Amino acid sequence: MALEISILVGTMTGTARMVAQELELAFADDDVAIKVILMDGLDYRIFSQPGVFLICTSTYGQGDVPDNAKALYADLLARRPDLSSVRYGVFALGDRTHVGTFCFGGKRFDEALSALGARRCGSVLEHNASGGTLPEDVALEWFPGWLEIVRAVTAAPAGSSAATLVSR
Ligand SMILES: Cc1cc2nc3c(=O)[nH]c(=O)nc-3n(C[C@H](O)[C@H](O)[C@H](O)COP(=O)(O)O)c2cc1C
Repeated sequence: MALEISILVGTMTGTARMVAQELELAFADDDVAIKVILMDGLDYRIFSQPGVFLICTSTYGQGDVPDNAKALYADLLARRPDLSSVRYGVFALGDRTHVGTFCFGGKRFDEALSALGARRCGSVLEHNASGGTLPEDVALEWFPGWLEIVRAVTAAPAGSSAATLVSR
């Protein structure tokens, strides 16, 4: 059965969406089913879908999640669902010129999800828009390694050392 990955996109000007679409184009095949889902209109129930989630979000304002991600983020904080069966990764887009709030959109989701018991696969990937790299290039290079971690975590029985180690 194909591994299901839902990429939840938080974006203001479309960069994160483009990154998600590039990942879908490049990596969706018979083994990996990738769905790109804009966060607009979502609530905590999205996390009851099967498979693994990739949060792909930018940062706006002063370290806020983008407008289309605000309702989902607020819903998680307000309802505090038990997400202990959820596995996720984070691709955070930001700009280091925003000193002190770099990639806070992705970091906020990471903190919220882990506080609700969800387990992260791999570390948070932080893309710096002023760093001279294109986010889609960075994502395309990063994704296969992340997928390996996801496969190891989802194949390992819950609580085993493989599941624990790689998901830190
Ligand atoms: C008004 C504004 C505020 C921003 N605030 C932050 C911020 O606080 N921290 C950060 O890391 N990046 C910040 N950014 C940078 C964006 O997150 C970055 O450019 C991102 O790639 C945009 O992706 P998007 O098109 O998917 O929204 C800001 C950009 C703008 C235009």
